[in-house]
Amino acid sequence: MKAAFMRKHGGAEVLEYGDMPDPVAGPGEVLIDVHAASVNGADWKVREGSYAPLETFPYILGRDFSGVICALGDGVDDLKIGDAVFGVCDVGQEAAYAEKIAMKASIVAKKPDDISHVDAAALALISLTALVSIEDTIKLKAGEKILIQGGAGGVAGFAIELAKHIGAYVITTASPANHDYLRGLGADEIIDYRSQDFTKVVSDCDAVFDTTGGDTTQRSFAVLKPGGRAAFIASGSTAPDCPRDDVQSLRPRVGRDREHLERMVELVQAGAVHVPEVTCYPLSEVVAAHKISESRHLRGKLVFKIR
Ligand SMILES: NC(=O)c1ccc[n+]([C@@H]2O[C@H](COP(=O)([O-])OP(=O)(O)OC[C@H]3O[C@@H](n4cnc5c(N)ncnc54)[C@H](OP(=O)(O)O)[C@@H]3O)[C@@H](O)[C@H]2O)c1
Repeated sequence: MKAAFMRKHGGAEVLEYGDMPDPVAGPGEVLIDVHAASVNGADWKVREGSYAPLETFPYILGRDFSGVICALGDGVDDLKIGDAVFGVCDVGQEAAYAEKIAMKASIVAKKPDDISHVDAAALALISLTALVSIEDTIKLKAGEKILIQGGAGGVAGFAIELAKHIGAYVITTASPANHDYLRGLGADEIIDYRSQDFTKVVSDCDAVFDTTGGDTTQRSFAVLKPGGRAAFIASGSTAPDCPRDDVQSLRPRVGRDREHLERMVELVQAGAVHVPEVTCYPLSEVVAAHKISESRHLRGKLVFKIR
């Protein structure tokens, strides 16, 4: 099969497009012909070696995908060959930048016909992350006020629509070129973080969801009211130190399961949440796609259209 892989850690130029052996479905797994796979912020961090260094090369990146089942491993009885499915690789597993992937059957979900493979791949990890962060971790309620940092990114865009659907008041941060886009997602207030200090213009929030990291993380605690909750997904694998004793610092635990993917489908089909702006690339242009992702100013999602 064709795949995008790397033989060592490094810049985007370490990525190669070429032939790799086909994977095989083990017990409890399905083999999927991948139609689309998305680029996530984690991909270039893994590529650079910012997480634990990889021990085995060549290594195929890619955490979410959509495709069609082409073989079943032993013991799979709730899915069949020909089913269109999408999902997020299990924790510790990657390899979606490829024409085929073997995946635990219990963590993929059926893709409905009214969501394309490109859109399902675009939505998979961002929706899982936003749902676990906003609903399960922050437990946002109607009438609450939330600041969502980095509104134009994939996870934050889904989170804005989800928070509005819950009935919250949503403030977000973005550069001016993205303000119309964020108004379209339903944000109540948008702050240009380049010209305004959000800590001077936002206060008394019930919650913060930070998808940007950097110095934004520690500064975000200042806008919370006593009892407030802040969740962080771009500042490491544990909750950041909290400078106040009257608010909570939380690190969402984004596991993989079919239920959250099905919840996303429900929300999209109900019109509560929409597919983000998607830019498609062929897998052979993996280097260019990574350069855009690591620039940290992509709006929406990058997706490899593989079939
Ligand atoms: N399971 C997990 O824990 C998990 C899952 C998914 C993602 N993540 C992490 O979450 C983060 C977000 O990922 P993503 O894919 O949704 O988005 P992303 O592609 O990393 O974010 C890009 C967006 O961030 C905005 N941005 C950059 N710096 C900003 C700042 N200082 N203030 C406000 N906005 C800023 C940019 O908008 P402007 O052009 O307007 O600046 C751009 O649209 C990444 O670090 C990723 O690794 C974690």
